[in-house]
This record gives sequence, structure tokens and C-alpha cells, in this order.
Amino acid sequence: MRIRDFQLERYFAKYEFSARYLLSPSDCEPLAMRELLAMASGEDAKLWDELVLAYTESPGHPELRARIAGMHHGLTADNVLCAVPEEAVFLAMNSLLEPGDRVVAVQPAYQSLQEVARSIGCQVDLWPLTRQGQGWALDLEALEQTLKNPVKLLVINFPHNPTGFQPSREEFETVLSMAEAAGARVFSDEMYRGLEFSGDAPLPSVAEVSDTAVALSGLSKTYALPGLRSGWLICRDKDFLDRAQALKDYTTICAPGPSEILSIIALANREAIAERSRALVRENLGRIREFFTARKDAFTLIEPMAGSICVAELIDGRDAYAFCEEAVQRESVMVVPSKAFDMDGEYIRLGLGRKTLPLALEALGKYLER
Ligand SMILES: Cc1ncc(COP(=O)(O)O)c(C=O)c1O
Repeated sequence: MRIRDFQLERYFAKYEFSARYLLSPSDCEPLAMRELLAMASGEDAKLWDELVLAYTESPGHPELRARIAGMHHGLTADNVLCAVPEEAVFLAMNSLLEPGDRVVAVQPAYQSLQEVARSIGCQVDLWPLTRQGQGWALDLEALEQTLKNPVKLLVINFPHNPTGFQPSREEFETVLSMAEAAGARVFSDEMYRGLEFSGDAPLPSVAEVSDTAVALSGLSKTYALPGLRSGWLICRDKDFLDRAQALKDYTTICAPGPSEILSIIALANREAIAERSRALVRENLGRIREFFTARKDAFTLIEPMAGSICVAELIDGRDAYAFCEEAVQRESVMVVPSKAFDMDGEYIRLGLGRKTLPLALEALGKYLER
């Protein structure tokens, strides 16, 4: 298999564990094991205490799948396949696509949402978000145009990484009906669902409203548990889930038992965990706003609508990649440049979910004052 390097992950690999301050993580402040276990009810604590470290069920622990289904209207455990989130992208694309298929994918994007399809030999056409003043917008006319040619899969991701863009419910429904009219299946990355920090209701999961659409989600972002490597695909199409599960025999076969039980505990407390994450994002957004407003000659902050990330544009002629490299070399603050998303323009990604954001901003401020 030939696949291009994952630019964002390679950039993180370079600095994530050596830089003192991180300004771009997309997860929300990870919970300590102690905090999570303190939330466990008597029955869930028993599952943890009595866990035997055997192989586990390939589709996922039945109780975990039931709790995931319980987060969605009209779905059951049979509609859920557990996998590591990034693995789930790989399983889904490889189950749905064949060489020569045409895929339309939102741009910019978390690279695997486009790259895995390219590695299969698909033609991947990009559907760019457009800049509209101080925000982002969907170009529905462009989508209509591109869907005139046969498309196997439309790949979307809202709340969006890296911009924090979220369509209105009406726009979202229009996108789904356009895909349906064109005969394209939808793959929807919903990793940031539940991070609607302004109080808006989440968009429905595509798996709730379509018979064929595939939704991906997991515990890494909203639920503050990236280290569990716990995620899932949800879909009403049983054949698809069977194919993805058969492919999982060649990736992980089944999940680690401790991760499954801790995921079960997390989902029993999901509202409290998600509210903790939303509160952190709201607080940090205020700080980011203040920081970039004070430096508006050099940056335009493009505020997120939902999720835990957004971008700021460099408007003083600086190259974003060089800026990020210099910031990490001089003040040990890691910031991700737009190049990691193959994104046109000079942007940096900002992560709003971490408690250490004030320290990271202070370090960036020092670098800018040099
Ligand atoms: C949009 C999106 N999808 C999928 C993933 C993969 O999640 P994980 O790193 O937990 O496997 C990420 C992680 O950053 C993401 O941002």
C-alpha cells in the first residue's frame, strides 16, 4: 500500500512531546484515570475490577455498543462497529471504495478523510469551504456542480477540523439531500459533535437520518479521552458494517479490554464530560479573542462556530510554516501551520480545549515581542 505522509500527524510527531507549550491540539483537556474511575457507578466499577485481559468481541463490547446506540435516535447496538477513530476512517473507506471511484471531500480536511481514498486509487475532488468576511461558508452551488458527475462518496466533517465551521441545520439537510439526489453515499466525520459551545443543538448524526450514510465518532475530542483510542462507525447498512468488521481482522481484530470498560464509564457520564469540555472551550475562546484582537495588525482570528479548534490568518505577509517553526524553536510553543492541511493561505490552527492555553499564549506573545 502506498500512501502519502500524514502532514498533520508528522508535524505533531516532530514537536508534540518535546515542545513545552502546545497551542494547536484538537482534543479537550484529557481526563486523568483517577477522575474517570471516580465517575463509575457501582456496576461499572465492578466491570473494571473484574476485567480479565482476554481478547474482546470484534464489533465492540455489547454494553459499549448499546450505550453508543443510545446516544442516537432510532439506532441499536447492531448499527455500531467500534474501532479506533483513525482506524475507522481506514476501515470505512476501504469497505466502501474501489479503484477508479470518484469521491468528493470537504477541503481543508483531516488528511485521512481524503488520503485513504486516494491510496485506494480513487479520484478525490475537493469541495472547498469558502472564506466569507470573518467566517467560513459552504458553497452549495459548487457542490451541486461537482455532484453532476457520478460520485460514490461525499465526505463531510462538521464541526469542522481545522476551521470550527458548522453549517446551519437547513444547509446540512440540503447537503444530504443533494448527495441523495446524486446517488452518493455520505461519510460524515462527527468527532467534534457535542462541542456546540454556543448552546445550539448538535446537528443530527447522518446515521440517524439516512439509511446508507456512515458516521464516525469517538471519545478523543468532546469526551476528553484521546488516550483510550476509542471510536465507532454507525450506519443502518448492515452489509457495510459487516465488510468493515471483516477488514478489522487485518487491523486490530478487537479493542483492548481496559479501553472498552473505561469507554463504558465515560459514556455513562457523557453529559458531564462534554459540558466540562464546552466550558473550557468557551473560556479559552475569550482568551484567544483578547490575544488576537490586541494583535489585529498581524492576525485575523476566524472564530469557530462549534468544535474545539479554529484558525487565525497571518495578514502581515508572514509565511505560516516559517512562523510556526520559529515559534517552536525560540519559545518552545508548538503551533500547527495551514500547510499541514494542504490549505491555501497563511493560517495557524488554534486548539481551544486545553487548560494550558494561557501559558501557550503567553509563550507565543513572547515570541511575537522579540
Ligand atoms: C476530524 C478528525 N477525524 C478523525 C480524527 C482521528 O481521531 P483519533 O486521533 O482519536 O484517532 C481526528 C483527530 O484529530 C480528527 O480531527
